[in-house]
Amino acid sequence: MCSIIGYSGKKDAAPILVRSLEKMEYRGYDSVGLAIKNDSLINVKKDIGKVSEVKHSLNLDKMPGKIGIGHTRWATHGEVSKKNAHPHYSNSGNIAIAHNGIIENFQQLKNELELDGFKFESDTDTEVLVNLIQKNFDETANIKETISKTISKLQGHYTFVVIFEDGTLAAARFHEPLIIGVEKNSYYISSDVLGFIEKTDDAIYIDNENFVIINDHNLDIFDFKGNSIKPNITKVSKEFADVYKGDYAHFTLKEISEQPKTVLQAGNDTQIKEISEMISKAQDLYITGSGTSYNAARISKFLFSNFAKVKIEPIISSELPFSPDSIEENSTLMTISQSGESADVLDAVRIAKESNSKILSIINHPNSSLSQESDLVINLNCGPEIGVAATKSFTSQLVILYKITNKMCNECMNLDLDKASQSISTILKDDSKIKKLANDFKEISDIYVLGRGIHFPIAKEAALKLKELTYIHAEAIPAGELKHGPLALMDSNVYVIIINPNDSTYQDTLNSANEIKTRGAKIIGVSNQNNEVYDFWIEIPVIDETLYPLIEIVPIQLLAYYAALAKNTDPDYPRNLAKSVTVE
Ligand code: G6P
Repeated sequence: MCSIIGYSGKKDAAPILVRSLEKMEYRGYDSVGLAIKNDSLINVKKDIGKVSEVKHSLNLDKMPGKIGIGHTRWATHGEVSKKNAHPHYSNSGNIAIAHNGIIENFQQLKNELELDGFKFESDTDTEVLVNLIQKNFDETANIKETISKTISKLQGHYTFVVIFEDGTLAAARFHEPLIIGVEKNSYYISSDVLGFIEKTDDAIYIDNENFVIINDHNLDIFDFKGNSIKPNITKVSKEFADVYKGDYAHFTLKEISEQPKTVLQAGNDTQIKEISEMISKAQDLYITGSGTSYNAARISKFLFSNFAKVKIEPIISSELPFSPDSIEENSTLMTISQSGESADVLDAVRIAKESNSKILSIINHPNSSLSQESDLVINLNCGPEIGVAATKSFTSQLVILYKITNKMCNECMNLDLDKASQSISTILKDDSKIKKLANDFKEISDIYVLGRGIHFPIAKEAALKLKELTYIHAEAIPAGELKHGPLALMDSNVYVIIINPNDSTYQDTLNSANEIKTRGAKIIGVSNQNNEVYDFWIEIPVIDETLYPLIEIVPIQLLAYYAALAKNTDPDYPRNLAKSVTVE
């Protein structure tokens, strides 16, 4: 969701900023813009559309100047339009801003500024913010004081970067990511390491409630109280520099294909031991996440209770503030998040902390906001995931949950992850049948995915992948619930995917498949064993039955990907979706 980038250095800023915005496209956006200082003027160009489109239509990358800011916007306040796109000028035209997040008290600030004579052209909270900055700058003529005074008035979650007419860049972070890339004589201010990783792997992760001022190649960091903070330069991990599609047509396919490797990299033994001990001691244990990460969270309930006899309550993050299972005092909240930046998850953590809970997190981005809020973090180590639809992060999340369970039950599981990795390779190797089947999805409007027990969260994840990538209505149904309603929907226009490996759920789920078949629906069986009820059989290798959930999602990721191609949708950037949803 929204990306900000700033550059201050000796090179032309515009091509650098455009390239950075292209690298961060995966976060999701609807409009693009740059503000560049040239001589004593700040020039702004912006429009709705893809970075490549706006680059060509407005010659974005040809704007002159060595200092500038850029933004891709994902509409929150106000429609998708040129006037609402960032950067926004202040009334004087001497200051411009790009902003992520939401200023909750923008209306009140706007009213106050209007009384002072400020005028507004857009519907955004951002334009209010830049004019508040202008007002404070007019009063103080000092950039540090201006930023301090401004942030003291703001409510909400935000990161912003401002360019002043003397070429100073200032940026502040409040619950939205902000990272500085450091190169000789140049600084990059970014929402994401991908914004500068092609240029430098030296980075300063700005702490929450800090702001930075960059002027004449000097960088100063302050906390919100105005105290000076020493910059701490770290190296961005190598894996996060690996952001190229290589020979793959799409990031999504690349990421699906990396799973034989990534399932072997998830978590390390020390982290697993530590978290298992903390969970075993926990009084009340909850687990939360959004989207795919929540589907992984649901799997923990089956694993923990079946093998480790540990009770855990999954609560979807966006529902946690309204959940009747409110977090008890001194509980333990596990969180799962690929990005570590999902606003709903961070809000759930805030609530849990109010009741003095410990926070144990499973995260892919090691320096994310969530890791800073956590007592203990386990890394997915699966490298950057660019495709909006989560794939490899899901299987890595499952591996960590398996490993924790196995540790808690004193290695009671037959956890042969090498075998799981080989099985995923086998599925990936022969995808010709899946490709062929995906072609049929061009015409259909409804798919149902059935699973029982531990396979139901996998059915949910399968339906989510199909929705995200193909825009087909896809719904997961617990197989046993068919006759309580969904059977009414079954006819010859419908496709039903049955997640049905040969384990304790097998026969019951097969019976459900037969009930559907008699209503004329087409049945796709995902199983290690064929059956005449299946119109299409997607074969998965035989493996210890505890590991089927880990491998059975892979063919459906492929099916969703190829169906997206057949339907001519963009699998990497599905419409209306953002990779990292940083607003509630
Ligand atoms: C968004 C993405 C989903 C993702 C969810 C949770 O909705 O589109 O693909 O599963 O956020 O993201 P997280 O980074 O917290 O795992």
